[in-house]
Amino acid sequence: MDRRRAPRALSGPHLTLVEALLLGLGETALAEWVRLSRWGYAAINTLHVLGIALLVGAILPMDLRLLGCRRSPARADVVRLLRPWAMTGLALAVITGALLFLADPAGYLATPLFFFKLGLIALGIVSALVVTLTAVIEGLSRGQRLAAAGLSLLVWPSVLVAGRMLAYVGG
Ligand code: HEM
Repeated sequence: MDRRRAPRALSGPHLTLVEALLLGLGETALAEWVRLSRWGYAAINTLHVLGIALLVGAILPMDLRLLGCRRSPARADVVRLLRPWAMTGLALAVITGALLFLADPAGYLATPLFFFKLGLIALGIVSALVVTLTAVIEGLSRGQRLAAAGLSLLVWPSVLVAGRMLAYVGG
């Protein structure tokens, strides 16, 4: 299946400044390259999935340990070990996600699921900040730790599903 996208139209007098700027980004040479190059979109999409694998692959065991799975290694050690991988994965997913967005800003801006996904990502980042700041972890009450890890366990797989579904939900 050809995963390159045909740009869609979003116009009219009600465009906000941010929307107009984002639509303008879709007219740049970089956006044109993402849309039209033979392997560009495929390569970026592959890196997006790699970022997701790193992020979710590191976040899930971390959250499970914070929820009380296993007695060792110590929670702080698990966080220290996995946090850099989760952050690298998130950075890769955000950068490549922004490039994928460039392929069709009008289409994504007209898709509520895209905003839902961005909202979930923001929620996930806030909860990750709370959970993974090693200094904070031992200071959190048990209830707070369980709530933050539980939220994270819900949010990141939901982002993953929302991202996958974007391909099937039109604007
Ligand atoms: C600001 C960050 C992000 C942006 C702007 C973004 C944007 C996008 C875009 C535009 C697509 C292409 C959708 C399509 O096929 O039409 C996509 C695909 C996808 N995204 Fe993201 N994304 C971001 C972060 C994430 C994160 C953190 C996850 C998972 C935890 C994720 C999961 C996915 C998945 C699973 C796909 C489908 C990949 C495939 O199977 O082809 N995204 N994303």
